[in-house]
Amino acid sequence: MNTIELIDRLEQDKSLQKEEWITLVESASEENREYAAHKARALADRYYGKEIYVRGLIEFTNYCKNDCYYCGIRCSNKKANRYRLSEEDILACCEEGDRLGFRTFVLQGGEDPYYTDDKIVDIVREIKRRYPEHAVTLSIGERERESYERFFAAGADRYLLRHETANDTHYRKLHPESMSLSHRKQCLRDLKEIGYQTGCGFMVGSPGQTAADLAEDFLFIHELHPEMIGIGPFIPHQDTPFANETQGTLEQTLYLLSLLRIMQPDVLLPATTALATIHPRGRELGILAGANVLMPNLSPVAVRAKYSLYDGKVCTGDEAAECRNCLERRVESVGYHTVVARGDNISILR
Ligand code: 5AD
Ligand code: FES
Repeated sequence: MNTIELIDRLEQDKSLQKEEWITLVESASEENREYAAHKARALADRYYGKEIYVRGLIEFTNYCKNDCYYCGIRCSNKKANRYRLSEEDILACCEEGDRLGFRTFVLQGGEDPYYTDDKIVDIVREIKRRYPEHAVTLSIGERERESYERFFAAGADRYLLRHETANDTHYRKLHPESMSLSHRKQCLRDLKEIGYQTGCGFMVGSPGQTAADLAEDFLFIHELHPEMIGIGPFIPHQDTPFANETQGTLEQTLYLLSLLRIMQPDVLLPATTALATIHPRGRELGILAGANVLMPNLSPVAVRAKYSLYDGKVCTGDEAAECRNCLERRVESVGYHTVVARGDNISILR
């Protein structure tokens, strides 16, 4: 079966065998990429029209107890300039976000034990008390199931936890012994069971990633069936063990975005900041390849540059309001418009 036929079958069956995924990933010619992007965009349009969802991202701590080899805020990076936002700071970001029209707040941070379960519960409760109609997304890494249950009871609606790679051997190349893929996968299953809208995801072109690893990512995602999938290119950070590794490519990221859209046409799929970092029109190209979510930064400008997961991150000097306008223009330049709706009721649109 040739690649075009495989893409057609993926659209029909929503699944492929591992060997077929490998073939698909390995045959990313320009013609195949265009074919996939065209199909992906048509599917996104069918499910979401010309609407792009916007989520306000609040990076509230860059302390992290983990030591992932790829990440700029890993605990061994003594050069990282650490910060934490107080509950008051976080609420001020929400206020600004609300004023700019955001209806989803994403609280993202390193795995920082300073924010105990009690603290997170307080923060989530207070945001939901002030903005009962808004969605709160947490992205604070691996915790106990019981903690996830408490956050959910406090009002958190969604949780993002990238699995990073679904292959054990590859996972070991990216993480120290203290972390495990099986625990991470368990967290994702717990989150789904508890009732969160759940997001997983991976980096494209991370060191040692093979087509077979990516095939396993697709199989894992197909089985998990998350509501959201976050992918972006791996970008080396100068103060990590991967400083001299090669960056993931624009072409492969766009191709994989398209394949994800075709596999799960109603999924919420962001064009990430990492994608915008490797190409000046990365987000627009992401949308044209099938993405339908943008996550601009709402963090205070004073801390932006410190949340440095990789080198060269864009939008670190811009006020939230500027980002909002800039995004609007970018989205309109490719024939779409941003919407502030929560975007989790698309069954009505179907
Ligand atoms: N390049 C690209 N993405 C990265 N992330 C962490 N470090 C890097 C990097 N060097 C991603 C991880 C993590 C998310 C918050 O950021 O996938 O889950
Ligand atoms: Fe941040 Fe353009 S989106 S400045």
